[in-house]
Amino acid sequence: MSEIQQIQWFPGHMTRTKRQIQASLGLVDAVAEIIDARVPQSSRNPDLNKLVAGKPRVVLLNKCDMADPNETTKWLAYFEKEQTAALTVDCKTGKGLNRFAPLMRQVLQEKLAQWKAKGMVNRGVRVMIVGIPNVGKSSFINRMAGGSRARVEDRPGVTRGNQWFSAGKGLELLDTPGVLWPKFDDPAVGEKLAFTGAIKDQIVDTEQLAGRLLCFLAKHYPAGLQARFKLTQEDLAMDEPYDLLCQVGRRRGMLISGGEVNTERAAATVLDEFRAGKLGRVTLDPMEGGR
Ligand code: G4P
Repeated sequence: MSEIQQIQWFPGHMTRTKRQIQASLGLVDAVAEIIDARVPQSSRNPDLNKLVAGKPRVVLLNKCDMADPNETTKWLAYFEKEQTAALTVDCKTGKGLNRFAPLMRQVLQEKLAQWKAKGMVNRGVRVMIVGIPNVGKSSFINRMAGGSRARVEDRPGVTRGNQWFSAGKGLELLDTPGVLWPKFDDPAVGEKLAFTGAIKDQIVDTEQLAGRLLCFLAKHYPAGLQARFKLTQEDLAMDEPYDLLCQVGRRRGMLISGGEVNTERAAATVLDEFRAGKLGRVTLDPMEGGR
């Protein structure tokens, strides 16, 4: 994954984002951390805890429509144990979002009581939205702020480029200042993010990636592969990623002259169908036990 490190995440960029987040933290009451429910661990920024230490936080497990519901339940229990407020949402349809404002108010109840005691009854709750690329931050803001993405007028002290959106009912959202990086130094994390499409296909070997994804699915989520690609038990037992990819290509009739499998096309199909949720609901970061 060293190529990925160099292309997308360079030290100057991280320092800038860190600085931007720290400069804006004083302007918000809380942080909403958006993560991808399919990769609840790999889609978290490794430095966020330190960066936003002390700020009340709500974690949103987005794209829960595509994640394995059993694993999602386990992840929710994990966050509860950690005493972190967490919510499952689907920002594509808006499912679960009506629980966001009440949960945020619950997390901030002491502060809200203090404001009330001081007569600050019209003070809106200001929340910074953070998350690595592709987890659904824009979708969340669009859903919460409505199609118009009603912008709140510039506030004093806000660095240029910071964007505020009104979500109604006394809730104001600040879009992530800067681009938050994933845990790019761990190749397993990079691979899972590449499976989900969070890391662009131009910078990874898609045949290798699709083959490895197929091996993972064959082991942990075989039903989707059987249904979509008509793979047999014997096919599913293959442990060479390339062989499994060829088998998928064969089952789909993706052949080129001479009867060889068009593995490039097979790989693109596997990745597209996985990312569209057609291979079933899958969680790539299990709560317990190493995968
Ligand atoms: P970002 O700002 O954090 O980078 O993420 P963004 O909202 O752009 O979302 C990234 C992709 O994830 C988008 O798909 C978006 O539609 C999709 N998405 C966001 N939330 C959900 C969800 O809860 N469920 C599902 N299934 N998908 C979700 P895209 O293909 O890049 O764009 P589009 O074709 O949907 O417009």
